[in-house]
Amino acid sequence: MREEEMDMTVSLLSESFAESMMMATSYVKLLEFLVKNYLIERREMMPHNATLLGVYRENGEEGFELAGTVELTFDRKGANANPPTPTPPKNSPYICNMAVRKPLRRRGIGWHLLKAGEELITKMSSSREVHLHCRMIDEGPFNMYTKAGYSVVKTDSILTLLTLQRRRHLMRKELHVSEDASELDIPNDQFTKLADVYK
Ligand SMILES: CC(C)(COP(=O)(O)OP(=O)(O)OC[C@H]1O[C@@H](n2cnc3c(N)ncnc32)[C@H](O)[C@@H]1OP(=O)(O)O)[C@@H](O)C(=O)NCCC(=O)NCCS
Repeated sequence: MREEEMDMTVSLLSESFAESMMMATSYVKLLEFLVKNYLIERREMMPHNATLLGVYRENGEEGFELAGTVELTFDRKGANANPPTPTPPKNSPYICNMAVRKPLRRRGIGWHLLKAGEELITKMSSSREVHLHCRMIDEGPFNMYTKAGYSVVKTDSILTLLTLQRRRHLMRKELHVSEDASELDIPNDQFTKLADVYK
């Protein structure tokens, strides 16, 4: 995410948060204010983290639209000061804030964002272990992460419900360095360029 792409990313994430928290659309503006401040803070941590964007273009169309986003943390310095529970190991790369715009879901965009994120982590971090959180009620993302090889390490206690929060799984995967990035339909040199931007 370049600086000039921040506002559209803020809108996408705020809509996704409002949806997952079942908030009225009137709260989206407040969410946008909070999300923007969060993203500004996170950008200051680069190159220890990164926000990837996925764009979508209809066949034959010239322009493209923002389709999805995912945030990556590569190391301890880029880690969020107050991660959600169950707490992930501080040194471990971490994936969060994965969202695809509603009208563009189930076309493989989330999957490609996840694979691109994993690929960049293998280039930016010496650790091969990656963690992420998934709420217990979120069946779609849970299926995606399970299909991608993540497994549950720990689950929030039922007492979490007393804090009016949803229970979450902490999930983990051992990454293998892929010699063939062609499974992503993304040329290898694009990853190299992306990794160079953050070095
Ligand atoms: C989770 C999310 C990012 C997935 O993005 P997507 O582009 O729709 O996902 P994909 O089309 O790449 O799906 C990849 C796989 O995930 C699983 N999956 C995705 N959405 C699913 C759903 N609604 N129900 C069941 N499985 C689902 C499937 O296994 C799917 O593979 P398949 O299509 O071959 O069956 C998207 O649903 C989203 O933005 N949700 C709201 C925000 C959110 O919950 N983020 C995750 C936070 S942990």
